[in-house]
Amino acid sequence: MTEWAKTYGPVYRIQLGRETVVVLSGYDVIQEALVKRGEDFSNRPANSIVKLMYPKMLGIIMAPFGTPWKEHRKFTLVSLREFGFGKRSLEGKIFEESVALQAEIIKMGNKPFDISRMVQNAVTNVICSIVFGSRFEYNDDKFIHLMENLNRLFATNLLSQLAIFFPFLRRVPGMGRGPQDILDAVGTIQAYIREEIDSHRKTFDSNDIRDLIDSYVRETKSRENDDETTFTEEYTQWVIFDLFIAGAETTSTTLYWAFLYIILNPDIQEKVQEEIHTVLGHDKPPSTAYRAQMPYTEAVLTEVARIGSVAPTSIVHATSRDTSFHGYLIPEGTTVMPNLWSVHHDPEHFPNPLKFDPGRFLDAQGQYQRDDHVMPFGIGPRICLGKQLAEMELFVFFTSLLQHFSFKLPEGAAKPSSTGINGITHSPKNFELVAEALV
Ligand code: HEM
Repeated sequence: MTEWAKTYGPVYRIQLGRETVVVLSGYDVIQEALVKRGEDFSNRPANSIVKLMYPKMLGIIMAPFGTPWKEHRKFTLVSLREFGFGKRSLEGKIFEESVALQAEIIKMGNKPFDISRMVQNAVTNVICSIVFGSRFEYNDDKFIHLMENLNRLFATNLLSQLAIFFPFLRRVPGMGRGPQDILDAVGTIQAYIREEIDSHRKTFDSNDIRDLIDSYVRETKSRENDDETTFTEEYTQWVIFDLFIAGAETTSTTLYWAFLYIILNPDIQEKVQEEIHTVLGHDKPPSTAYRAQMPYTEAVLTEVARIGSVAPTSIVHATSRDTSFHGYLIPEGTTVMPNLWSVHHDPEHFPNPLKFDPGRFLDAQGQYQRDDHVMPFGIGPRICLGKQLAEMELFVFFTSLLQHFSFKLPEGAAKPSSTGINGITHSPKNFELVAEALV
């Protein structure tokens, strides 16, 4: 799609089955549509794939641009802040999880292993702590079941996604389970969340709000007599579901990219470790309070976000009214795809865009330079709700692991490819590494 923009310009349309999709490319056009014209471009499409997963379009991710979406987005953000968004307590939870992750890594000894599943467990467990009030042991049956179903949801490959737009593909052997698998996994995860909401209601104590579900139970109870309210158990269930869907795979895949580039660039790993050990030593727990003192680590994480582009085409938007844009009339409800990859790989702004080069974000004095052209969380009114949480997780997990381990390619192994796979997220192909504990 980035190549097509060279021929057809930064605003063009493609036809996916019966679906017309307007693709926006490049920083200027995406910024203009999603920020300056945010009111026009911040809806979500009510197309077949969306309706498959979100039959009533409840929750936050796929909720239409309107009052319920705004209320729940604000409520969730405020509640999350109460439990420590930006505060030490949430960081404490992430740190606790990073210690559990370190213990898993130590178990591997000097054997090569694939770190992706471990990172997924840790990141998902942070969401469990926030919404359910406690983390799970990784071998807990309930946790294993939850992870299996989340993975089923994300395991749908590009072909099975296409089968949603082109139903005839479902007759091709091996493809037919695409939509059904999605439905089964959604149903199982939803049932599990429902159970948690029920048990939270039973043990609810307004003087002890333990987590996001409690916060929702309190709000739902306070609005019980309001017939119009969307603060219902059903809605709660979808919001919690959304946090798992949007928060787990994106964050863990970004970390997976980070480990790939670290083992491909041992010199960069060494520099990050030098910085970590200078600022934190070998024992001080990492915290975002130290971010300003760690410009090189910041630059590495920014470069990982740019080059990995885990959500290359963001989440689809839709026009909220008939909209005139760059000489085209785009009817209300048209699907709009912001091509974030095109911004992150624009050679005019990022020369040699496929090269991993954290130096892009450092000035001559080695100070970190923020760059608006790195927008992994999107921009505008629909910008990722979990941006702060994700940035905190990436920083704490990455620094705490590099504080205690050096990662390298297994002896004699071929260099893993840095060409990713396009599934629901853009992820590295599976690779193995070896962890050496630092004393
Ligand atoms: C939306 C990226 C982590 C919750 C989004 C969007 C992107 C994104 C590109 C779409 C923005 C748009 O529609 O224009 C990422 C990346 C992450 C990450 C790269 C990790 C590195 C998280 C986390 C959570 C979260 C940890 C919460 C636990 C959400 C929600 C939305 C969203 C609820 C929908 C917002 C709305 O429609 O108003 N994210 N995300 N994300 N994200 Fe994230």
